Formats: sequence, C-alpha cells, structure tokens
Amino acid sequence: MLEEYEIKRSHQIDDFIDRISDNIYEEFAEYEDYHPAILGEESGQKLYDLIRHVEPELMVETGVCNGFSSSIILKAMEDADRGHLYSIDLPVNIDEIRDEEKTGAVLPPGKESGWAVPSPLRERWTLKVGNTYNELPRLFETLSENIGIFLHDSGHAYETMMFEFALAWRNLKEDHFLLADNIDFNKAFFHFTEAKKLKRYRLADMGLMIKEISD
Ligand SMILES: C[S@@+](CC[C@H](N)C(=O)[O-])C[C@H]1O[C@@H](n2cnc3c(N)ncnc32)[C@H](O)[C@@H]1O
Repeated sequence: MLEEYEIKRSHQIDDFIDRISDNIYEEFAEYEDYHPAILGEESGQKLYDLIRHVEPELMVETGVCNGFSSSIILKAMEDADRGHLYSIDLPVNIDEIRDEEKTGAVLPPGKESGWAVPSPLRERWTLKVGNTYNELPRLFETLSENIGIFLHDSGHAYETMMFEFALAWRNLKEDHFLLADNIDFNKAFFHFTEAKKLKRYRLADMGLMIKEISD
C-alpha cells in the first residue's frame, strides 16, 4: 500500500467533473460494450489540486482519449491563469474495432481525441496526435524549459511506461512531479522508482514520484 501524497484542497470542482464525465458517458450510452477509461473523479479532483498547488508553466500528458484528464488540467490552468498543456494521443475509435477484443479507452464514432474538452479551455492546449514513441521525444526537443508535471495515461505496457518515465524524468524540473495512472498493470512504476531510489506515493488512483534536487 502506497502512502497518499497529501495535497491541500484548493477548491471542490465536483460540478465541473460531473459535467465532463456525464457528457462523455452520455456519448457511450448506446455503445454498452465499450467504455471511455477516464481517469476517474477522485483522481481528477486530486490532479486539479496538484496543478493549483504547483501552478506549472508547462505540463505534458500522454493519453487523452475523450479528454477527461485534459479538461481537468486545463480547468486548473485557467483558474490559476497560468500554464500550458501539451498532450499526446493515438486514439482508437469504436468504428475501427468492431468485432475486435478491445473495449476500453476508445472514442465514440465520429469523435476526435479530446472532443469533450470545453472550447473556452483550449487556448492553453497543444494536442499532438501520434504515437508517444515518436511524439514525446519530438515534443521535448521543442520545449524551451523543463516541465512542472508529467502525467502518463497512454499505453500501459511495461516498455511504454518505462520509455515515458525515463524521457519525462530527464525533462522534469527538480522538486517537481511525475504522475502515472494504472501503475498496478505491471512493475514499471515499481522498477523505475526503485532504480532511482525514490519514495513512491499515491495521489488517489495515480502513482506519484518527485524528482528530488540533483536526481
Ligand atoms: C486510458 S486512455 C486516456 C484517458 C484520459 N487520460 C482520460 O482521463 O480521459 C489512453 C489513451 O492513450 C492512447 N494510447 C495508447 N497507446 C498509445 C501510444 N503508444 N501513443 C499515444 N497514445 C496511446 C489510447 O488510444 C487512448 O486514447
């Protein structure tokens, strides 16, 4: 059991979270065999609190899908009047996978990555559609400074998580935060934190590690 990272509640955004998730689930109502695999409400609130606490100038997330986590991040940046989010996503649409086994982390027919992100929040957002193996190194090459928060929620294969952790770590500010959803899917979070001798935390359902000074 990981220790919960304590973060002060900035303010409760239940109504916003409900609005975004209701909007997403409504689109899925007629596709009962599929689900959007959103980050989740408690993780969403804690993610909001962390962003309000850190107020990062730059943040990167991988894995957008319908855009639940992106909406929360952008809402926090808007409320803080600070920050820019870069997101990377290689989406799968229900139309493309009928009769295949994949049922989760999909887009409803006709929708694009991040479709649920409210228009007024999009000014602080750059979305790159493509594979993280190509897009993440390319993105970090273009950023002028290290990032304040990284959130992994793309493909949860061990290799993909290790790849993103290593790259994000090199491009993360000291004393700042790396988050990952679904850390129980494999041992990547455990192995990465062990190799770097880091303390492991939980933030709701996400794993959290902190880049200590001079790591
Ligand atoms: C769990 S969903 C993201 C959910 C999102 N964070 C939210 O809260 O709504 C994962 C997304 O990552 C995408 N993905 C999977 N493998 C990827 C890869 N190698 N590169 C980029 N995106 C990937 C999936 O297609 C899907 O759109």
